[in-house]
Amino acid sequence: MKSVSVIGMGTMGPGIAATLARGGMTVRCYDTSAEALANSAGLISGAFGVLDALGMPDNGDAERISMSDSLEDCVAGADLVVETVPELLELKLELLGKLDDLVSPECVLASDTSGLPITRLQEGNSNPGRVIGMHWSNPPHIIPIIEVVAGRDTAPETVDRMVAAIRQINLLPILVKKDVPGFVENRVLYAIMRECVDLVEEGVIDAEALDQCVSWGIGYKLAVVGPMALLDMAGLDIYQAVASYLNKELSTRGDVSPLITERTAKGRLGIKSGGGIFDYTPEQISELRQARAQKLVATRKTLENK
Ligand SMILES: NC(=O)c1ccc[n+]([C@@H]2O[C@H](COP(=O)([O-])OP(=O)(O)OC[C@H]3O[C@@H](n4cnc5c(N)ncnc54)[C@H](O)[C@@H]3O)[C@@H](O)[C@H]2O)c1
Repeated sequence: MKSVSVIGMGTMGPGIAATLARGGMTVRCYDTSAEALANSAGLISGAFGVLDALGMPDNGDAERISMSDSLEDCVAGADLVVETVPELLELKLELLGKLDDLVSPECVLASDTSGLPITRLQEGNSNPGRVIGMHWSNPPHIIPIIEVVAGRDTAPETVDRMVAAIRQINLLPILVKKDVPGFVENRVLYAIMRECVDLVEEGVIDAEALDQCVSWGIGYKLAVVGPMALLDMAGLDIYQAVASYLNKELSTRGDVSPLITERTAKGRLGIKSGGGIFDYTPEQISELRQARAQKLVATRKTLENK
């Protein structure tokens, strides 16, 4: 795949565009918001800086990215279109319906949905075999995995082309074998998040201490030893003994905890609103972004033995 279009230049789009360009693809970007398109230049350049720090060779990729204010121009002749518009089923279906009429039959239509079933996104498409999930992880220019998810009607050839394209840009394709909501990464993350939110809500631990416990405990460890390998490291007999009394104690709530809903109702949305669980000044936000990117880059380089 040589020519890619990225639709949606919000949180995910700029980093995705930069990564695809750095991987040697020609990238055209589109957003319905002129402001988002204008802001994306700075975000793409920031992502290139991080890719430099990761040691990804630059072959003049900035010239390979262009912005378009027309969906039609943006996707004309594309081999791959990646949609990364907000997580709303109707919006994504409407966009995929438009794309269906604008691209060639060989063009792959990929969705960066966090977990809407791909089978739902294939509904109404004249060529559902080319619709596939391509779930990037945030920040997309730093985290090296992409989940590849086939819907009921995705053609095996589309899966093969997507896996090859991800390898072509030096990232790690993760094949998800069943189109379950949340795929794999978010099912695991949300299981952890539900328990963490519950522990803080119940006063078992303070928010700061919870983060320390998870980041320096399982977080640090899991980056080196994955959960299945960890079972072998700890011993399956130990897992069985602990899980036999602990599994029934863990949170199973089906709704969202008041710790979250009370804050969202007040507009406390996190960094984007200046406060969520914690509070942030504008200076702290920019320092945090830089410091986190630096630490993620350093950790990734160490894990990759660079
Ligand atoms: N934010 C994350 O951490 C993350 C991680 C992985 C996947 N995702 C998924 O990626 C997708 C995008 O998430 P985001 O966080 O970047 O959202 P966002 O709200 O930050 O950005 C979405 C962008 O899409 C634009 N847009 C809206 N409708 C459009 C349309 N019809 N055509 C073109 N552009 C349109 C908006 O103007 C906005 O700039 C979602 O499906 C989300 O679930 C998000």
